[in-house]
Amino acid sequence: MTSTSVHRPGATGTTSSGPRHLISIRSTPLERLRHILAEARTFTPDQSLRGRTFATLFFEDSTRTRTSFIVAAQQRSATVIELSTASSSLNKGETMIDTAATLAALGVEAVAVRARQAGAAALIARCIPHLCVINAGDGRHEHPTQALADALTIAEALDRPTFDFHNLRVAIVGDIGASRVARSNIALLGSLGAQVTCAGPRTLVPESLASLGCKISWSMDETIADADVIIMLRIQFERYATASSTISSPREYRAHFGLTESRARQLNPDAIIMHPGPTNRGLEIDPAVADGTLPGVPRSVIRDQVSNGVRVRAALLNDCLTGS
Ligand code: CP
Repeated sequence: MTSTSVHRPGATGTTSSGPRHLISIRSTPLERLRHILAEARTFTPDQSLRGRTFATLFFEDSTRTRTSFIVAAQQRSATVIELSTASSSLNKGETMIDTAATLAALGVEAVAVRARQAGAAALIARCIPHLCVINAGDGRHEHPTQALADALTIAEALDRPTFDFHNLRVAIVGDIGASRVARSNIALLGSLGAQVTCAGPRTLVPESLASLGCKISWSMDETIADADVIIMLRIQFERYATASSTISSPREYRAHFGLTESRARQLNPDAIIMHPGPTNRGLEIDPAVADGTLPGVPRSVIRDQVSNGVRVRAALLNDCLTGS
């Protein structure tokens, strides 16, 4: 294990116990998460991070998260370095700890880390002193910035400007077992007062997930009937040894757990439809439902989730690097 020390005496954004990481929703005080959400709601581009250096360190594919971190840092005038598995010395056998240590030695102050392994961001945070680490998705564990983007989207779409989600019924449908988005959303939306129910087939929604603080259902229709928010998730085939261990057939899955046009027409018309992406159109969600082009069905806010990702990441970067 290698570590490096890049001490910046005067640097703000660190506490007496070290940098202000964001590793998981569960390990972060709700007061800090509320502060980030409130800052994101009123965010406008500024130069608050001019002269500060931020890097994306992505060991797993991403479109939305990686790009929105880059845009967010640019909108704060930070210097941004992009590193991905495809173009780094990781391909020559370097470890992720050595890679992060190299970035820190080059003057990078904060990194957003995405990895296939649960615990990767926490490991880097433990090994590299003074480097602020943001978890951009680690295996099946957590995806805290997606949950922040989702909470901001819900607050704005359903006019809950203070992020008080009491009496809000949230249905999360799909591959809950493999979903870091579900884990972060159960923790955040539940802390803000929402009642969260997770639904999907038994192969993807084990009963043990109730210990996360949500209800479990194996009936999509019962779960979404009175929901205010429906969050659809894709099946993460890449996290299973075989596709047949997840579902028996795409057609059967869509019939029981897909947000089809006909199912969408049965929903509470004031509900909103969400999906963190990437979507598998025609499997877990019909294209017209995802695009919001179908008259008489609840509003799709999927594009808002993407653009709100920039605002929460801009607020988070400021919180991490300046403490404000
Ligand atoms: N929602 C999400 O994490 O998408 P990406 O994998 O494209 O970043």
